[in-house]
Amino acid sequence: MNKNYIPDVSLNLNVRGLPQSATLAINEKSDRLRKQGKQICKLGLGQSPFPVPQPVVDELKVHAHEKDYLPVKGLYQLREAVADYHCRIAGVCFTPDDVMIGPGSKELMFLLQYVYYGDLVIPTPSWVSYAPQALIIGRQVRWLCTTKENNWRLTAEELEAHCKSDSNKPRIVILNYPSNPTGVTYKVEELKKIANVAKKHKIILLSDEIYSELHHKGKHVSIARYYPEGTIISSGLSKWCGAGGWRIGTFVFPSPLRWLMDAMASMASETFTSTSAPIQYAAVRAFRGGSQIEKYLWRCRWILEELGNKVSNELKKEGIYAPKPDGAFYLFIDFEKYREKLLQRDIKNSSQLCNRLLEDTGVAILPGQDFGMLPEELTARLAYVDIDGVKALNAAMNLDSRDKINGEFLDLYCSNVLKATSLITDWVNS
Ligand SMILES: Cc1ncc(COP(=O)(O)O)c(C=O)c1O
Repeated sequence: MNKNYIPDVSLNLNVRGLPQSATLAINEKSDRLRKQGKQICKLGLGQSPFPVPQPVVDELKVHAHEKDYLPVKGLYQLREAVADYHCRIAGVCFTPDDVMIGPGSKELMFLLQYVYYGDLVIPTPSWVSYAPQALIIGRQVRWLCTTKENNWRLTAEELEAHCKSDSNKPRIVILNYPSNPTGVTYKVEELKKIANVAKKHKIILLSDEIYSELHHKGKHVSIARYYPEGTIISSGLSKWCGAGGWRIGTFVFPSPLRWLMDAMASMASETFTSTSAPIQYAAVRAFRGGSQIEKYLWRCRWILEELGNKVSNELKKEGIYAPKPDGAFYLFIDFEKYREKLLQRDIKNSSQLCNRLLEDTGVAILPGQDFGMLPEELTARLAYVDIDGVKALNAAMNLDSRDKINGEFLDLYCSNVLKATSLITDWVNS
């Protein structure tokens, strides 16, 4: 066949040269290296290591026969369960009509950015896909620089400084907490101040709370409490329920933003139609919660907290900046102290750092550059998820107190992550 038949200039300008999402690419690269027989510690992709809770899996089995297309905005019982869930956990009440279900919150974010004509405003560092989505659609991305001293969290002052020059400009600000990539979250006072700025400038605030249930102390607070009229809460089952591959995400809208949801639903009706039926039925069980799911969540939180603290402490001992995580399963680390030493090995930026670390030690982490940091900043995201989640969770389910998740437990069930940590510290010192 003539290879020139479909010229590549026919690619939409906005996707020309667009690489595959960094997290998915590192996962595939790690798998390829493992298949070649290399020992790889997979701390690249941010995937929950834990199994989906059994009652939710059982519900999926019961509904495997569901085959019909469901309503575009989602199964009504699920929209009801999601509205109740947010009343329960966020203390902000919604009705089922405020809820939209999609095949992953990522897809819903894309639809939101598509239908709303405004700038995307995000802090550095931010999750890898917000900015590429905006660029695909042709929106402006405004990165707000944060500081390491504030553990890379956005302040109300930084947001105000950005908005005040053109207060009425349409904007979507995405705030993600506990954060991917940093694992840190906001204090209530900080959320209140950011909410006041958002209110003042009539910002559409997308509160990405996909890790809310993985706040290590179970104490997540939603900013929607302080700016209910302009906040859309994004969530789903990918992280707290270990169901990333099920592809289900949720958005809840305040009633003044119903027009946005309706526009998104029109687009959904012409693109993905509706989310997989059996998955939606099973998701009802997950969002209704109950004691079994609570127990599951607490055991996941205990393990993640102990492991996150341990890895952060080990890195800090060697002078690698690694703020203690408040939630999720990430650490954002800074090798600045090793700049000179790394330079002697011709490592000048975060991509070179992560590539060389993978080649030399088999540890896969992602460069800070993928999260919007400047290339020369020697930062990286480490996802401490390379553990046998089934074994670890089963063991934790039999424990009745947090204290029993200790060093011995981590040695038994999380050895790959601990090994990766010492490989990193040995490597920088070598
Ligand atoms: C911060 C953040 N938001 C959104 C998503 C998208 O999740 P999903 O599309 O699986 O709901 C992810 C997934 O990694 C994430 O880390």
